[in-house]
Amino acid sequence: MLIKRAPDIKSSEITDFQFYLDRRSFLIGMAAMALAPARSATAAVSAGEPLKAKRKEKFAVQDAPTTLKSITTYNNFYEFGVNKDDPSRLAHTLKPRPWTIQVDGHVARPKKYDVEELMRLFPLEERVYRLRCVEGWSMVIPWIGYPLASLIKRAQPTSKAKFVEFTTLLDPAQFPGQRKGLLNFSSLEWPYVEGLRLDEALHPLTLLTFGLYGQVLPNQNGAPVRVVVPWKYGFKSAKSIVRIRFVSEQPKTAWEKATPSEYGFYSNVNPAVDHPRWTQATERRIGEFRRRQTLMFNGYADQVASLYTGMDLKKHY
Ligand code: MTE
Repeated sequence: MLIKRAPDIKSSEITDFQFYLDRRSFLIGMAAMALAPARSATAAVSAGEPLKAKRKEKFAVQDAPTTLKSITTYNNFYEFGVNKDDPSRLAHTLKPRPWTIQVDGHVARPKKYDVEELMRLFPLEERVYRLRCVEGWSMVIPWIGYPLASLIKRAQPTSKAKFVEFTTLLDPAQFPGQRKGLLNFSSLEWPYVEGLRLDEALHPLTLLTFGLYGQVLPNQNGAPVRVVVPWKYGFKSAKSIVRIRFVSEQPKTAWEKATPSEYGFYSNVNPAVDHPRWTQATERRIGEFRRRQTLMFNGYADQVASLYTGMDLKKHY
């Protein structure tokens, strides 16, 4: 991945969390009043619209959330280009609705879901997670979604299902970065593919995500649906997915195919295993000046370390 310096964002720009919650409740309340009579259970929503979700304290880190502005303007989404501001500048070309997600492979109940149906299958929760990018910056994001495990259990994986593969939309008309020769250089092979071991995908922290900051997911953050895996480097959290496939072999991921010596399948946040070209021991939280120590498993060790008992994490980086 390319390394770019984070813009200097003053700490005064970090939203006070209480202010955000008060404002969000107000906005959601107003919107609910305005929309209630007209809304059907499957009505389409669009980016920026309020999205109601109950906050799960158990899954909310205490760190101050990064500002909505930074979260939506400092992005990695190579389908739009390699610069941090490409996604916010160009994401209007993505049409996130209507949208379908194919759930298939080794499952008893394969199904093609319309995103509106998928979003309403289980109660939405707000979870405040740390996101640590492999490039050395981090954010704190109030996501909205439900555990991927809920959908997986509904699909009923068979005994052959050992891994879950996530595929992003392939459409050069909507994603300028997928057009050959256009917009800078990217060594990725399209579509963007990511994967998890089945037990990682079933972990209660793994979130199927439809919104952030009380709103429907903005295009640049992976509308209409993405995965968020907070104990792994950000690139494991594939955006704008169209397929969730249950497979028996470890999927070949986009970054592994591009640079296998730099990006492994597991990609757990690990301050003790450096990237071949830079340290992973510290990170720069967007909005802060001083670098912080990176935490093992991004601070989620209590919850996820047991998934890797007996594994050499230097080898399985
Ligand atoms: N998903 C797709 N399809 N394409 C991408 O380029 N970038 C990843 C991940 N998911 C990426 C992607 C990386 S490197 C990071 S750090 C996170 O998205 C960034 O998510 P955010 O922009 O919502 O903060």
